[in-house]
Amino acid sequence: MADMMNVVYKNANEPIEARVKDLLSRMTLKEKLGQMTQIERSVATPAAIRDLCIGSVLSGGGSKPFNNATSADWADMVDGLQKGAIDSRLGIPIFYGSDAVHGNNNVYGTTIFPHNVGLGATRDPDLVEKIGAATALETRASGVQYAFAPCIAVCKDPRWGRCYESYGEDTQLVRKMTSLVTGLQGKPPQDHPYGYPYVAGRNNVMASAKHYVGDGGTDKGKNEGNTIIDYENLEKIHMLPYQDCISKGVCTVMASYSSWNGTKLHSHRYLLTDILKEKLGFKGIVISDWEALDRFHSPHGSNYRSAVLSAVNAGVDMVMVPFRYELFLEDLSYLVESGEISMSRIDDAVERILRVKFAAKLFEYPMSDRSLLDIVGCKQHRELAREAVRKSLVLLKNGKDPRKPFLPLNKNAKKILVAGKHADDLGYQCGGWTATWEGTSGRITVGTTILDAVKEAIGNNNTEVIYEENPTTESLSGQDFSYAIVAVGEAPYVESGGDNSDLTIPFNGEELLKLVASESGIPTLGILISGRPLVLEASVVEALDGLVAGWLPGSEGNGITDVIFGDYEFHGKLPVSWFKSVDQLPMDSQQNLYDPLFPIGYGLKCKN
Ligand code: GLC
Repeated sequence: MADMMNVVYKNANEPIEARVKDLLSRMTLKEKLGQMTQIERSVATPAAIRDLCIGSVLSGGGSKPFNNATSADWADMVDGLQKGAIDSRLGIPIFYGSDAVHGNNNVYGTTIFPHNVGLGATRDPDLVEKIGAATALETRASGVQYAFAPCIAVCKDPRWGRCYESYGEDTQLVRKMTSLVTGLQGKPPQDHPYGYPYVAGRNNVMASAKHYVGDGGTDKGKNEGNTIIDYENLEKIHMLPYQDCISKGVCTVMASYSSWNGTKLHSHRYLLTDILKEKLGFKGIVISDWEALDRFHSPHGSNYRSAVLSAVNAGVDMVMVPFRYELFLEDLSYLVESGEISMSRIDDAVERILRVKFAAKLFEYPMSDRSLLDIVGCKQHRELAREAVRKSLVLLKNGKDPRKPFLPLNKNAKKILVAGKHADDLGYQCGGWTATWEGTSGRITVGTTILDAVKEAIGNNNTEVIYEENPTTESLSGQDFSYAIVAVGEAPYVESGGDNSDLTIPFNGEELLKLVASESGIPTLGILISGRPLVLEASVVEALDGLVAGWLPGSEGNGITDVIFGDYEFHGKLPVSWFKSVDQLPMDSQQNLYDPLFPIGYGLKCKN
């Protein structure tokens, strides 16, 4: 104990900056460069972490110890790696990062919240903060101390494959939703220094505001594309949410793969250092995105070493390598020895990393807290997710005659048809970044599909519920359905895999809606399960009796039936413009020629 108290950096009673200064002064160059390195779990070993003083380990999308690994299995994995760090010469703990972007979504059995586009529809920052707090608890239960969230992109074009990761197209709406940072990290005390990283304790995680800056404003919505805009509008549209995150003590900011007026963000010294660190006063870590240095040809040449030079000198403090870390360390070491990267730049990067580790109390609490395991997927969190689903749904049409609303639906109807693949597919309703990187179909975790929820809501009534994934005119003929609920939409996708320029409803979704609603003449509610607006022909909207945008609701499908059966009122408002045709994109609600099918902010109530 005496040793602990004498060594400043090991003494939790010492001010953070004193601990940073003391520890930095004890570190070798090799240890400093190791701290700037984040590696993927599949190549991480306790020995490598110990010997190279590796700063962080991550799970890339879907990377897990093994299929259906539980939170306890994850905690075993993370603790095993952490032991390597603790055994290193100076005992600097790692932080383990994972894309907990709508719950701790990589892990089986966790609560899966609606994706950000649905949360944007709620316009409820307090709800989003609570979701952050619940996500932090379930994430820490798995040993993970760092979430690559929130994505605070302002999505200006729904052709972008990451539109669903954005809270919407309006900057002020996105700014409100930065309350997720406070949920994840905890609320800093009044006297907390501006721009300084903050984590309340071991029930919280470090957050990552991403992807800095302008990722949602690229030309034609191309993922990792080019944002062509003057600085004034870059700041006004895409940068303001970062100011909000910095004022909330966000620990890290992740650089964007995209470019600004042709220059890659990862090599943009003006934006990463002069603006983010100096003008906006950010004192945490700038982390690169996954293999971002492998994906750009820096002004210094096209090989990897020149990319390392550009990125680190631009202001990247930690590199998400994630696999070729020996090469990264070799190149970085060469560049420092040669003087092309200064020691002051290295010390700035390492100070920021150590500052976050001390602020996150990782030296005090390096290992997982198994007492949190009971909270994973608990009733309280599932109820919170169910509330979020309820508040995210947007009612776009309610009846062919305004005097005769179609919703709420009658739970005691004689015979109900439930149709469409999205009515009984948990994977589809969760979307990307769930269980795997891209997301997938089927019973991927614990949850309630729309069909499960309909049966639950109907209960023991004499109502007959018939499910047909793909009904035909023949299969429907002669059946006296009281009404139909037809759920159609997108299959899960992620990043560039989601870039899409025609935005029609996949799997002949419109044809199915028409077949049930007009050809078979059954009163029909259409539910769209998608990460963004999709093309809706006027004839389809006309044929439907009711239409709801369900977004990507996550594991609690009963949030949908709560509202369509009238136990709760609709609340959601569109967070994005609903275009008539992709030829209109990108739409701008501030422009005079703004002519959407449904405008941003649109949303009906049942009892108008
Ligand atoms: C991905 C994404 C980023 C994510 C990171 C780690 O490529 O761009 O949002 O956090 O890699 O999975």
